[in-house]
Amino acid sequence: MHVLHVVGARPNFMKLAPVLLAARDRPDVQQVTVHTGQHYDYDMSGQFFAELEIPPPDQNLEVGSGSHARQTAAVIERLEPVLEHQRPDWVLVYGDVNSTLAGALVAAKLGLRVAHVEAGLRSRDRTMPEEINRLLTDRLADLLFTPSRDADANLLADGIPAERIRFVGNVMVDTLLRLRPRARALAMHRRLGLAERRYAFVTLHRPSNVDRRETLGELLAGLEELAATIPVVFPIHPRTRARIQEMGLNRLAPSVRLLSPLGYLEALSLVECSALVLTDSGGLQEETTVLGVPCLTARPNTERPVTITEGTNRLIHSTREGIREGVAAALAMGHRADAEARRPPLWDGRAGYRIVAALAEEAGGLPKRAAVS
Ligand code: UD1
Repeated sequence: MHVLHVVGARPNFMKLAPVLLAARDRPDVQQVTVHTGQHYDYDMSGQFFAELEIPPPDQNLEVGSGSHARQTAAVIERLEPVLEHQRPDWVLVYGDVNSTLAGALVAAKLGLRVAHVEAGLRSRDRTMPEEINRLLTDRLADLLFTPSRDADANLLADGIPAERIRFVGNVMVDTLLRLRPRARALAMHRRLGLAERRYAFVTLHRPSNVDRRETLGELLAGLEELAATIPVVFPIHPRTRARIQEMGLNRLAPSVRLLSPLGYLEALSLVECSALVLTDSGGLQEETTVLGVPCLTARPNTERPVTITEGTNRLIHSTREGIREGVAAALAMGHRADAEARRPPLWDGRAGYRIVAALAEEAGGLPKRAAVS
């Protein structure tokens, strides 16, 4: 069986690793990784391959940054000849970034089988570019690997036939459980002079939070207020750094400790030992649920509802008041002692193996998907 993985942006790499490693254990599987180049800085891309203990990509399409149309189009154009040449049995796409949709679209049009890892998530918010990517990728995929039962229900409600849906669990959790001992050993908080469970860990990069001056200003003012209570560390995404500069907001949060983007192990180490996480990331909502760390998500909705119903996540308004109220609740709650017992079903570190087994089982069998009206 010949599998071709398409990845491009930071959150893809943690999802790729468990599948790649599970497939490497099987002599019947040949695999190739194509990096679209959506993310290209070393600290947004290159460092993860070494840390995740996976080989560097076989090919990089170097599409770089641009508007959604330009970036997606560049992946489509550059990926087509690669797929035509390789003709794999499966094209695997991950998550919900622009590279995910572009990969699925090219493969589907070439008549290649597409499998979507992390299928079925829905925020019901079409202002999020990721929601559009999720909807369309799921429409195109032949096999849909879901992380939770709500995702199965979303796909069935969208008319996806049940035999194409496989509930396999959460691949991000495979990576987290595998690398947690190494992350713990790093003790990043000590390197930064922070006391365990006495600091907040922050990440913000969604366009809805950082592209409008008013919202970004409120968030930074809220973080500055929080920093008067506990130290705040904020590894800053290049998009957010650029917006802060452009909008002249540099002086709004002088007490907040801004860091360059972190590696996977450094971030995991800091998250696990923090008092609380404040974020708009998708992956961190899941990671904090597994670790039992209180999480505040600065968004009006989430495509990962089990992190609220089963986990430690809570949605907050992207305002000073929203942060104030959320932090009070998070500090009152503290770390969840029963996080392991409450882990959502199949968030057990074995999702990658289930995916590879299903691909091998279906490689010859499952007919190419007919168009869904
Ligand atoms: C993308 C994903 C988002 C994911 C995020 C994780 C889409 C639509 N969005 O958003 O779902 O949560 O990745 O990081 O696919 N930049 C750099 N260096 C890099 C990459 C980006 O400086 O290596 C800067 C550029 O100014 C670029 C901006 O960040 O224009 C945004 O990058 P882009 O890939 O378009 O989207 P993200 O905001 O990273």
